[in-house]
Amino acid sequence: ANDDGRRSVSPILINLAMSIAAYFLTVRLIPGIKDMFIKANLYGVDMNKTSGEKVPEALGVVTGCVFLVTLFLFIPIPFTNYLFSDTNFPHNEFMEFLAALLSICCMLLLGFADDVLDLRWRHKLLLPTIASLPLLMVYYINFNSTLIIVPKPLRPWFGFSVDLWMFYYLYMGMLAVFCTNAINILAGINGLEVGQSLVISASILLFNVIELSGDLWKAHQFSLYFMLPYIATSLALFKFNWYPAQVFVGDTFCYLSGMTFAVVGIIGHFSETILLFFIPQIINFLYSVPQLFHFIPCPRHRLPKYNKETDKLDISTTVFNKKDIGIIGKLITWVFRKLRIVKWQEDKEGTVTCNNLTLINFMLIKTGPMKESTLTSTLLLIQVASSVLAFIIRYPLVAIFYET
Ligand code: UD1
Ligand code: MG
Repeated sequence: ANDDGRRSVSPILINLAMSIAAYFLTVRLIPGIKDMFIKANLYGVDMNKTSGEKVPEALGVVTGCVFLVTLFLFIPIPFTNYLFSDTNFPHNEFMEFLAALLSICCMLLLGFADDVLDLRWRHKLLLPTIASLPLLMVYYINFNSTLIIVPKPLRPWFGFSVDLWMFYYLYMGMLAVFCTNAINILAGINGLEVGQSLVISASILLFNVIELSGDLWKAHQFSLYFMLPYIATSLALFKFNWYPAQVFVGDTFCYLSGMTFAVVGIIGHFSETILLFFIPQIINFLYSVPQLFHFIPCPRHRLPKYNKETDKLDISTTVFNKKDIGIIGKLITWVFRKLRIVKWQEDKEGTVTCNNLTLINFMLIKTGPMKESTLTSTLLLIQVASSVLAFIIRYPLVAIFYET
């Protein structure tokens, strides 16, 4: 091992041990703390149950705090070799670590503010952009590499590499916005928000472990430090958020998760691979575009509709008059109908009943009504299947486009 003795597994093992402790701490903390949330008026009503009970909401703030505390305690560990000899302290690595924590911490605060204050849509786009600024600054100072390698088939036109310059920073800022919101809008049934985040983080973990033997091991080791405690604390939350949910995760959790993924992707130089693990979220986002940009009306909640008699969930709909939607809305819905990806009913007066455009409802169109837990499991299986696809794209297929 002449590439320096610091390529050791002991910090990872210590991190793993701390993460296991964090899991047990969170599992004990959540039931103890959840009544405090109800007292503080932080609760929601589960719309897919008959009981109408108050369910504590924004428990993501608890897992987020444990996650951050675990990492705060872990900070000195990877640097112990340098702490007692004052030479060559890797200030740039240390700075990355701190900036990553700052961005995540900032997002946790902003996400919690969203849960408490119920912010508007435009804030949901602004907040992650602001929270990613410290990170982009560090990226600028440490790497400032905005070159991308052009895929082989395109090289006759673009050459070997292209400098994206400030557009690369724009892309990284947008990545944070996308990751945070994409998880938040694939939501509304018990266990789905945490479940999908767990599949994504497990995929990132696997990818890091594979790459640990490669040249960029340092970046992947860095990502592992964040993924292990993230998975541990989220697993604890999953236990309580699974059907029937005792707690809701809140936007706090969705923001925290998205930001954590964006942070490791940016600092670890694998932000393109991160997007591969978001295939269902990308599909859900694209499908949602007509409602997100109000080309057709978007109700406050788009989650599936509960049927008391059958105890099953069916599609939820949005109702509007055909002459009230603009030209873009007309065009997109025409295309969607031609592709047969919407359930569309129209009466003589032009009143349209259309399903809310989410992947969850789309699934229900294809399968018919389902029990809530079955629906969550099905969607999580799709998430796993797309991660398998992501690995196929990342490894065998990439070899066609790049020399590896
Ligand atoms: C996003 C979605 C919205 C969806 C909501 C569900 C978009 C643009 N927004 O809004 O369509 O309805 O998430 O989280 O797609 N809830 C349940 N069961 C669950 C989880 C949540 O009934 O398993 C309900 C509870 O009433 C809870 C509320 O959803 O209080 C939380 O919604 P919130 O996270 O505030 O909604 P948004 O993220 O704004
Ligand atoms: Mg939400």
